Amino acid sequence: MNAMPQPSGDTGGDSSDDTGDDTGEALVKVADLEDLAPKGHKIVKVGRKQIVLFKTESGIYACNNRCPHEGYPLAEGNLTDGCVLTCNWHNWKFDLESGETLIGGDRLRRYPVVVKGAEIWLDVSDPPAEEVIARSLENLRDCFRREETIRMARELARLQRAGGDPLDAVRAAFEWTYERLEFGALHSQGAAADWLGLRERHARDEAERLTALVEIIGHLCYDSLREYTYPYSGKQTAYGPDALAAAIEAEDEDAAVAQIRGALAEDVGFAGLERPLCQAALAHYNDFGHSLIYVIKTGELIARLGDAAAEPLLLALVRAMANAFREDLIPEFRSYAGALAAWDGNGAARPSAEDFVGLSAKRAMALAVEASGDPQGLYRVLLEAGAWNMLHFDLAYQARTDGQISQNVTWLSFTHHIAFANAVRVACESYPELWPQGLLQMACFVGRNAAYVDRELDTAEWRVDQPAAFLETHLRSLFDHGQPEFIVSSHLMKILAAAEAEVAAARHAAFVPVLLAAVNRFLGSPLKRRHSLRSAKQALDFVGIED
Ligand code: FES
Repeated sequence: MNAMPQPSGDTGGDSSDDTGDDTGEALVKVADLEDLAPKGHKIVKVGRKQIVLFKTESGIYACNNRCPHEGYPLAEGNLTDGCVLTCNWHNWKFDLESGETLIGGDRLRRYPVVVKGAEIWLDVSDPPAEEVIARSLENLRDCFRREETIRMARELARLQRAGGDPLDAVRAAFEWTYERLEFGALHSQGAAADWLGLRERHARDEAERLTALVEIIGHLCYDSLREYTYPYSGKQTAYGPDALAAAIEAEDEDAAVAQIRGALAEDVGFAGLERPLCQAALAHYNDFGHSLIYVIKTGELIARLGDAAAEPLLLALVRAMANAFREDLIPEFRSYAGALAAWDGNGAARPSAEDFVGLSAKRAMALAVEASGDPQGLYRVLLEAGAWNMLHFDLAYQARTDGQISQNVTWLSFTHHIAFANAVRVACESYPELWPQGLLQMACFVGRNAAYVDRELDTAEWRVDQPAAFLETHLRSLFDHGQPEFIVSSHLMKILAAAEAEVAAARHAAFVPVLLAAVNRFLGSPLKRRHSLRSAKQALDFVGIED
């Protein structure tokens, strides 16, 4: 047990060595009643605690002198309405009697006061750790109402200081938000796995470790802010891998959810779900590759957060997959089904990345089929081709305001390919039967993006001479990215995490310098986040031909 803190004489508190009374209560004498007479308040110090005593109409109250908002001294505050204390820095108001924060967020730490004759005694014992942890989680949830990310950081720090597991806050945040995602998992779920990975591998101190958690929780808050609740079906059916894949294929969210519930009831871990989820994700060119990325990242998240977090993560995942749009059904990629049927695994061609440059999606897929005999080799070539496209992205497409909707191309069209490629490799190394789908969908990316490159672009300035240092520098820069939008920081996270993983998996592959130069150019180039004029022009054109 910690020794009882001593009152400090230099603050004017009683300097006697009273540290309890004969009843055994954990009380410490801090002042005499007459000490409050001059100003109506008095600051005392007990150990490291700086406490302010207030004499009010309804009695004497004691609280932390540091405002829970930004730490300014509450002794400088005003008392009104009996015992309502206002901190004059930002007008937060605290009811000293009830302990409620009337205006503001964080709760004020108060100390029970006992008046013994002419003496003021305080109970300065800390509440049980479990109580502090539970309150921090409760307060963290309250932060979601107003998207108070700075306050989230404080509550997480309090939880951690009380000995709590900060990952409990992440688990809780997924629990609070998954029903508010109308179309299931979003980038906040995918990026969370990468943030936890960054925290484990690259954080150097507590502040950086905390940053990663605030980023995850803040993004989940943003995604669920002011959203309605969209409950999941409560049905549960006996788990069967084929039935799960079939439910997603049928876009039957309720059946897929019932399968997940069945799997959880049968203690089927993510390892038992991963194959059908990968199959379903790659059954189509789903959501521009997002489905597979989310499957892989959800697996990583469950590995880090434990099975206790599995239900909200998996339900949000299958909702997203059941609602995914299937780009292989639109004309640009419609040859996908034929290419997949033609894939026999015997294609002997060994094309280079250069051979893919400028090919349409249809022709890129046809060339991939010719190289079907060497999936790993083709994977590296397609990754290099995708990185080459990214390195040569014609930024005029991002800037222009007079293009067709179909030409609304941004950096993210290119960075998605890299993140998808990473997910394809991870999935197909575990389930090699999925290489055809994964590679043909990579060819779809290559073909789609090929139309928006500047082949003559001089890219020498983007060359990366020291890959390890480059990645370390930029990954670590994520702890202080300065981006106001979570979606932007999550995309920075996504591309850097994918690049790190792919370079680590094939350090000397030909794609490495191209990929790093592409990432370098992306990080060093403007990212246009709003297209107001283009949207307005496209709206006028569109509405103009509606009749
Ligand atoms: S520091 Fe007290 S209200 Fe901001």
